[in-house]
Amino acid sequence: MNAVALSVARPAASPIAARAPHRVLDVFGLTTAFPGDDGPMTVIDEVSLWVEPGKTLAVVGESGSGKSMTFLSALGLVAAPGKVVAGQVILDGHSLTSMPQAQLRTLRGRVISMVFQDPLTALNPVFTIGQQLIEVLRAHLPIGRREARQRAIELLARVQIPDPIRRIDDYPHQLSGGMRQRVLIAMAVALKPKVLIADEPTTALDVTVQAQILDLLADLQRETGMGVVLITHDLGLVARYADRVAVMYAGRVVESGSRDDIFHRAKHPYTHALFRSIPRLDSVAGDDLPAIEGQPPNVAALPPGCAFAPRCFHRQGRADCTSTRPRSEATDDNEHRSACWHWRTLPILKRDT
Ligand SMILES: Nc1ncnc2c1ncn2[C@@H]1O[C@H](COP(=O)(O)OP(=O)(O)OP(=O)(O)O)[C@@H](O)[C@H]1O
Ligand code: SF4
Ligand SMILES: [Mg+2]
Repeated sequence: MNAVALSVARPAASPIAARAPHRVLDVFGLTTAFPGDDGPMTVIDEVSLWVEPGKTLAVVGESGSGKSMTFLSALGLVAAPGKVVAGQVILDGHSLTSMPQAQLRTLRGRVISMVFQDPLTALNPVFTIGQQLIEVLRAHLPIGRREARQRAIELLARVQIPDPIRRIDDYPHQLSGGMRQRVLIAMAVALKPKVLIADEPTTALDVTVQAQILDLLADLQRETGMGVVLITHDLGLVARYADRVAVMYAGRVVESGSRDDIFHRAKHPYTHALFRSIPRLDSVAGDDLPAIEGQPPNVAALPPGCAFAPRCFHRQGRADCTSTRPRSEATDDNEHRSACWHWRTLPILKRDT
């Protein structure tokens, strides 16, 4: 479908769109479940977060905490039998959660796009990178093959692929990992989306190439004003690129706030545990999430109270921690939130360094 033919119904005034007109992506109460042996298993539980134009939201949390699933859910990409069972997602004024799949497909790529971790599996090995880029452009824009090829060459040049006129006819296996990741970024930004979701986009790359790719993303972001979601295990990258941070644990956002709030005024014991040994705001990329004692819980068998209770240093035998699930509360007037019953009495975060 081409861009001219696209028409997406604007939803009637949504409560969250009305509340936050400055957010380009606003996720509210998103909940996703899979069938389990003992009934539905909630893997994403009332997740709320948002992205502003030109800003970066970093999403951190241990493996299995629900980072990828949150955005697959927001984009309507959860594989059956998984299902989004509650919540609202507003993208640039459009309600994705109430939109038919066909309309949603036209927005993906055009208004919101996603870059995944592994550029080899994300690119099709039997087509050249040029063919794949041209297909993305022509699927959404009313342009001929020759113009699309010219634009593809410009895009490859923009993501700093050397000699793009020649490299456009390369197959993915002829490029290095860093070059393949640049091609994926070129594809993701080809249609100038308003939001780019980068799911661990540089994990497989060495530190120098990582920095080049993320600096490139930051440049593109400055040029186009797109909002970026950076899903990462690397707290050095959070320090360097994030404006806001959402910390996930067992399918929930347990704390969210500005980067400085999270680094200097954390109000959840899990965030304390993650950030205690690292990093300062001047730290460099490569500071991976530290190991925290104990195991993350199995979301199919969460304890009745706070999911973090078995590993929490602040619990101190408090009954409410193990009996009642904590609500997310504002800790100040500045959009800093914590889902801990006892955030008021948390000590100031002291780092090991
Ligand atoms: N197809 C599936 N069926 C059932 N559960 C699933 C499925 N895919 C993911 N999950 C569950 O959803 C939860 C969140 O997974 P998700 O992939 O979002 O984690 P993540 O935070 O992105 O982890 P990682 O850092 O390893 O990428 C996990 O408990 C996982 O077991
Ligand atoms: S609610 Fe209790 S167990 Fe959970 S993080 Fe807060 S103090 Fe720890
Ligand atoms: Mg993931």
